[in-house]
Amino acid sequence: MTQENIEKVLAELNALDCKTEKEVEQARVRFLGKKGEITALFEEFRSVDGDQKRLFGRPLNELKQKAVARIEELKAGVQDGGAEESKEDLSMPGQQYELGSRHPVSIVRQQIVDIFRKFGYDVAEGPEIEDDYHVFEALNFPPNHPARDMQDTFFVSAGHLNPLLLRTHTSSVQVRSMESMPLPIRVICPGRVFRNEAISARAHCIFHQVEGLYVDENVTFADLKQAILLFAREMFGADAQIRMRPSFFPFTEPSAEVDVSCNICHGKGCNICKGTGWLEIMGCGMVDPNVLEASGIDSKKYSGFAFGMGIERIAMLKWQVNDLRHYFENDLRFLHEFESATEV
Ligand code: DAH
Repeated sequence: MTQENIEKVLAELNALDCKTEKEVEQARVRFLGKKGEITALFEEFRSVDGDQKRLFGRPLNELKQKAVARIEELKAGVQDGGAEESKEDLSMPGQQYELGSRHPVSIVRQQIVDIFRKFGYDVAEGPEIEDDYHVFEALNFPPNHPARDMQDTFFVSAGHLNPLLLRTHTSSVQVRSMESMPLPIRVICPGRVFRNEAISARAHCIFHQVEGLYVDENVTFADLKQAILLFAREMFGADAQIRMRPSFFPFTEPSAEVDVSCNICHGKGCNICKGTGWLEIMGCGMVDPNVLEASGIDSKKYSGFAFGMGIERIAMLKWQVNDLRHYFENDLRFLHEFESATEV
């Protein structure tokens, strides 16, 4: 027995290259089996004399340990490789993650904002939990006035002079804009609003509105009509017509309701427009002088117009959806219909 014998076996062990479990087993038999190379060295060791035993005992034991470790290592290598081989098909196409698409209410809100941005309006936002002052009082709804019944309100805190509530309309943002922005003001205010309504095809307790406000010197009703006509043509098509009907809102005087010509039957009358040829799209009017004064604007020098529309309503008309609840149920079959509807 020589040191070289041991080193040679060690070198062979290190040079082993096994690709399958069978090859590893063959290697184990070759070195550690009953007739294996290392087993043979141990046999030889038994018959050497004392000096030699002292010299080779430890290296021989180390060799055996290394061999066992090396075989384990090779075994682990082929097991991993084997698993990979059997499970993964590298030629398969990658896993596709479905991308979501924008919600139809978000699409229409963005379209409305983009149209008014082109006309020079800025976007303004306000809190959803508002106080009574900004939702009612400053908009010319006197306390306890029956006009408040137009909007059934969720109160957050009741009982004191200026209770907190969930805003019932985005008109509160026109008040906040008039309080904080320098004149002239031209803003568009999209947002979520809340009303204590029974949920049905035509009403929901949460929905979205866009409020518009323009205050400057010499703003007239003609400016209002023009702004809304341009909006209607951008939103519903170049041949859209509008008409205005007298109406009432506490915060505008005079007030009007706006109809757009039915984009389905083009005025002939169908079941969407209930045979009238017209679809109601918003309320509007000239800002009441009381409203301007409440926010510290001189109503002798300045005038303004305001308008407000429901985003779901515009979306329903645009895409002929006949049940408002579809917008809140997140049924993917419904939402997928709007995947490509990103253009005005
Ligand atoms: N705030 C009204 C509503 O929620 C909509 C509205 C009507 C807003 C007329 C206006 C307006 O600014 O002038 O029903």
